[in-house]
Amino acid sequence: MEKKKRMVGIWDVKHMFESSIIIFFVIGTLATTAVYYVNSDEQSPPVSHSAYVGDSLDGCDLFSGKWVHDNHSYPLYKELQCPYIPGEFSCGHYGRTDFKYQQWRWQPHGCNLPRFDDKKVLERLRGKRVIFVGDSVNRNQWLSMVCMLQSVIPLGLKKMQKTANVSLFTFKAFEYDVSIDFYWAPLLVESNADHPSNHKRNDRVINIDSIEKHARNWVNADILVFNSYLWWGTPTLKILYGSLADSKKYKIVGNHDGYEMVLAKWSNWLTTHINHRKTQSYFMSMTATHRRGADWGMQDNENCLNETEPVLKDNFWESGSDFKMMRILESSLDKLKARGVNVQLVNITQLTQYRKDAHPSIHRLFYSTLKAKQLSNPNGYADCTHWCLPGVPDTWNELLLAYILQRLE
Ligand SMILES: *[C@@H]1O[C@H](CO)[C@@H](O)[C@H](O)[C@H]1NC(C)=O
Ligand SMILES: *[C@@H]1O[C@H](CO)[C@@H](O)[C@H](O)[C@H]1NC(C)=O
Ligand SMILES: *[C@@H]1O[C@H](CO)[C@@H](O)[C@H](O)[C@H]1NC(C)=O
Ligand SMILES: *[C@@H]1O[C@H](CO)[C@@H](O)[C@H](O)[C@H]1NC(C)=O
Repeated sequence: MEKKKRMVGIWDVKHMFESSIIIFFVIGTLATTAVYYVNSDEQSPPVSHSAYVGDSLDGCDLFSGKWVHDNHSYPLYKELQCPYIPGEFSCGHYGRTDFKYQQWRWQPHGCNLPRFDDKKVLERLRGKRVIFVGDSVNRNQWLSMVCMLQSVIPLGLKKMQKTANVSLFTFKAFEYDVSIDFYWAPLLVESNADHPSNHKRNDRVINIDSIEKHARNWVNADILVFNSYLWWGTPTLKILYGSLADSKKYKIVGNHDGYEMVLAKWSNWLTTHINHRKTQSYFMSMTATHRRGADWGMQDNENCLNETEPVLKDNFWESGSDFKMMRILESSLDKLKARGVNVQLVNITQLTQYRKDAHPSIHRLFYSTLKAKQLSNPNGYADCTHWCLPGVPDTWNELLLAYILQRLE
C-alpha cells in the first residue's frame, strides 16, 4: 500500500465616513456574491449565499448536495504539476486516459462552496501546523491538500520530509511558515499496523492503553484532521492490555465494539491533552469503496473498474459502507461535545457514494508484481478504495477549508 522509497525520493469617516463604510461593505458583499454565482448551475434550487457572506456556515448543510460537471473550474491542479503524488494515486501516469472524473464540482443544495484560492489559504494558515492523522485514505487527502497548495510556492521554498523512526511526514512551505503533515495511525492507538509502509497483515492487534506513542506527536498542531475506518473492516480484532511485546493479556472483540472502545480512549486523550482554544479538530467520515457492481446495475463480479461516470441517483448507497460504524463515530463525537470538546465531523460519506468513477482501479502502482492469473482478471486487483489525484479528495479539502478558514477569522 505504502512505499517509503517514492515518498522520500521526492521530498523532498462621521456620516460620510459611515456611509462609505456601508457602501464598502455592500460592494464587498456584491463582489463576493458574484464570485459565488459564476459556477452555479441553472438547475440548482434557489441558492442562499448568506452562509459565506456572513461569518457562519450554520444553516447550510454542506454535505447534502450533488455532483455537477464543471470542466471550467476543475481540476484545481494538474497531475503532472504536482511532484508529490505517489504511484497509488497518479492514475494518469499509470494509464488512465479518461479525465472526466477530475471535472466534477460538489454543489451543496443550500449554498455554494467558497471558491478555492491557494494564496489566500496559505496566507490564513501562516505560522500554522496542520496534521492529518489516520490511514491511507487520509494520506490520500493530505497529498491532495499539498497538491492544492504547493504550485504557488517556488522551488527551494518548499520541502517534503519524513521524520526518522516516527510515522510522520511533513510538507513545509517556508515563506508562509506553514506545515502540512501526515501521521500514519490507521487504528489511532498503537497496533500491529503501525509501520507507515510495511503494514500489510490479515489480523488486527491493538494495544488499547497505548495512544500516547502516536499522540505525543500531535500535541503542537493547530489543526488536527483525523480519520479511521478502513482498518476496522475485519469482523473481530485482538485487544491487548499491556504491551505489544507481552501479548498474554488480551481479549477478542467485534470490530464495532473495538471501534467504540478506541474512540473512547482517543476522546479521553483529546480532552486532556489538547488546548481546544488553540487547536481545531476535525474527523473525516468514512468513504465509499465501490467493490460491488451490482449496487449500480452491473454484474456482481464487476466493480469500479472502467467506470467513467458518477452515479447520479439521489441518496445512492453502496452495500460495502458500514452504517453502524458511522453511528458509532457520531455518538462518540456527541459525547465529546457534551464534555465541551468540539470535533467537527466532515461528513463526506454521501458525496463519495456517488463517485464510482474516481478510484484508481488498475491505474496505479502496485507494489508486488502481478501474476498472469491476476492480470487475466483485472477486477480482482482493481483498487476501488483510494482516489485518483486530482479528484474527489480535493473536494474533501474544500469542505474542510470552509470550516478551517471560518474559524480562523
Ligand atoms: C467541457 O465540457 C463540455 C460539456 O460539458 C464540452 O462541450 C467542452 O468541450 C468541454 N471543454 C473542455 C475544455 O474539455
Ligand atoms: C532510529 O532507529 C534505529 C534502529 O532502531 C536507531 O539505530 C537510530 O538511532 C534511530 N534514530 C533516531 C533519530 O532516533
Ligand atoms: C475495460 O476497458 C478496457 C478498455 O476499453 C477493455 O479492454 C476491458 O475489457 C474492460 N474491462 C471490463 C472488465 O469491462
Ligand atoms: C452524514 O451524512 C449522511 C448522508 O447524507 C446522513 O445520513 C448522516 O445523518 C450525516 N451525519 C451527520 C452527523 O450529519
